[in-house]
Amino acid sequence: MPKIVVVNGTPSLVSRINAVMDHAESDLRSRGFEVERINIAELPPEDLIHTRFESEAIVKANGLVAEADAVIVVSPVYKASYTGVLKTFLDLIPQKGLAGKIVLPLFMGGSLAHLLTIEYALKPVLSVLGARHILGGVFAVDSQAVRNDQGIVELAEELKLRLDAAVGELAEETALKAARKAQP
Ligand SMILES: Cc1cc2nc3c(=O)[nH]c(=O)nc-3n(C[C@H](O)[C@H](O)[C@H](O)COP(=O)(O)O)c2cc1C
Repeated sequence: MPKIVVVNGTPSLVSRINAVMDHAESDLRSRGFEVERINIAELPPEDLIHTRFESEAIVKANGLVAEADAVIVVSPVYKASYTGVLKTFLDLIPQKGLAGKIVLPLFMGGSLAHLLTIEYALKPVLSVLGARHILGGVFAVDSQAVRNDQGIVELAEELKLRLDAAVGELAEETALKAARKAQP
């Protein structure tokens, strides 16, 4: 079964971007993919800050990345870039650790002003890590994710359409890649 890992660089575990991630993950699971999530904010902070490659938690997280056929990179936009939390983990991924993987960025920002964050901030780092198959990605504006009276975050239809298209492409490409890998 093809494996997908979600690398979640969101500092707040109650951020509205979680609803975007949940939506993508349940879509992929319903298509038969094995999906794991790394919540970077739940990894030991000292290991991240001191770049401890040998830490048990980091080795385990890197193992999930190494085994995955595809990686979804998730971040809210902070100060016109991805979060510092995400960077602490990207720094710990081995050199060329994303080579051969399909990568889908999922970002959320407070406005469209930083729509290009994926292009100018994230993609150069993904490229250094060896990623060559980077899908277009989804940038959500946080007004498209609204918490209702019950505290449940509802996603705008327009966002869901873009998300479903991006996840559909990821699923197709990952299935093709896994089938190629399985060939004798
Ligand atoms: C420290 C900080 C910096 C932020 N900087 C930006 C920014 O530069 N550009 C932008 O579009 N949104 C920015 N935002 C807004 C977040 O991207 C947005 O609120 C988030 O994706 C939604 O998360 P929430 O549900 O926790 O509010 C910033 C938010 C915080 C907390």
